[in-house]
Amino acid sequence: MKILLIGSGGREHALAWKLAQSPRCEKLFCAPGNPGIADVAQCVALSAHDEIIDFCQSNHIEFVVVGPEQPLVDGLGSTLRAQGIAVFGPDTAAAQMEGSKGFMKDFCKRHNIPTAAYARFTDVEKAKNYIREQGVPIVLKTDGLAGGKGVLLPQTIDEALSAIEEMLSGDAFGDAGTEVVIEEFMEGEELSYFALADGDTYLALTSAQDHKRVGDGDTGPNTGGMGAYSPAHFMTAELEQKILDKIIAPTVAGMKKDGTPFKGVLFAGLMVKEGEPRLIEYNIRFGDPECQPLMMRLNSDLVELLLATDIGTLNEVKAEWSNQSALCVVMAAKGYPAAYEKNTEIKNTQAVKAIEGAQLFHAGTAQEGDKLISIGGRVLGVVGMSDTIQSTQDIAYQAVDTIDWDGGFCRRDIGYRAIKAHQEKVV
Ligand code: AMP
Ligand code: GLY
Repeated sequence: MKILLIGSGGREHALAWKLAQSPRCEKLFCAPGNPGIADVAQCVALSAHDEIIDFCQSNHIEFVVVGPEQPLVDGLGSTLRAQGIAVFGPDTAAAQMEGSKGFMKDFCKRHNIPTAAYARFTDVEKAKNYIREQGVPIVLKTDGLAGGKGVLLPQTIDEALSAIEEMLSGDAFGDAGTEVVIEEFMEGEELSYFALADGDTYLALTSAQDHKRVGDGDTGPNTGGMGAYSPAHFMTAELEQKILDKIIAPTVAGMKKDGTPFKGVLFAGLMVKEGEPRLIEYNIRFGDPECQPLMMRLNSDLVELLLATDIGTLNEVKAEWSNQSALCVVMAAKGYPAAYEKNTEIKNTQAVKAIEGAQLFHAGTAQEGDKLISIGGRVLGVVGMSDTIQSTQDIAYQAVDTIDWDGGFCRRDIGYRAIKAHQEKVV
């Protein structure tokens, strides 16, 4: 089968790496891809949806795997399906689950899925009154996609009032912010959970935990993710069953009932308190960097699993996972998530290959002659996999330390909560 993967980040490198291993993958293309992806796929410069369709038709592409959310929210899934091409990723209407926070909250309310209490606003004065009534801490979210930056957690009323004014005026987030969801601040431990859906049924995947803050000890500004590991250390069979019964199953059933069946991956951001999971948000794609450890742990054929979401045969396939843990350390350009320098040279990435249990995934890199250079904020994902979370972390950082990149930095403590929990268990 000829497959086209859409995207260019670390998530897509991990997907490409795993897709290419499938006996069903005859030829893999990736648009636009990156230098790491180029090791396992043929990279093609396509971006507009009609270019993608033309390419699929002239190259007999049978299956398109969409990595990021934006093309799905913009309708790529529906457009390809209308052409008779199988797609991994939801149709436009179902992509609203990530594309509109208001849609997702109304959906949860309608189908009794546990989540934070909320209200939707377009009017500044009404929103301000609601904030005064509710008090702080409170959570302000842009309705539309804002590249992971559309969530604010103001700690004082004044901060909340001025933030809401900036959001609703369109100054802070443009059109994505002219409608907001204001919600209850939930306490607890965060967890990511992944399940595939084929419109009718779901297939449970596994859990992960990420590190959103830029600095060690979870300090400093939020980022797209500085590292992640899988499985999440406090996941239990009982908690997983609750997530499936109270959140995933009613979501798949509700989307079907509402006439917007969901096909693709449901990436649930969850808050867990006293063993009870509540939904923070849904993403309609794999997480980045969560996908990197997930793909390392997956023992099953990825093409078969993803294809089953489109054809509706998820109940016929199985996802098998390694019992080992996998952990990804993100190497970012100095300055990220604020302004950062581009075009700095990265050396010695080949050395990672010699480290057992380590794997390097590219994100914001480019090839310039025989040099590898940085062109983005998050540039490399270095993954380790091993029996214990401590040895996994050791492998990942051993691999990080072989890479010679003056323009980059990383957190040195990815996985620390899991390591601490493991040490407490051993003692
Ligand atoms: P999101 O983009 O919705 O994942 O939000 C980004 C981060 O904001 C989450 O990972 C949480 O840490 C935090 N967050 C979002 N919504 C809430 C909430 N209702 N209560 C507490 N924290 C939240
Ligand atoms: N790492 C968080 C995300 O992909 O949304």
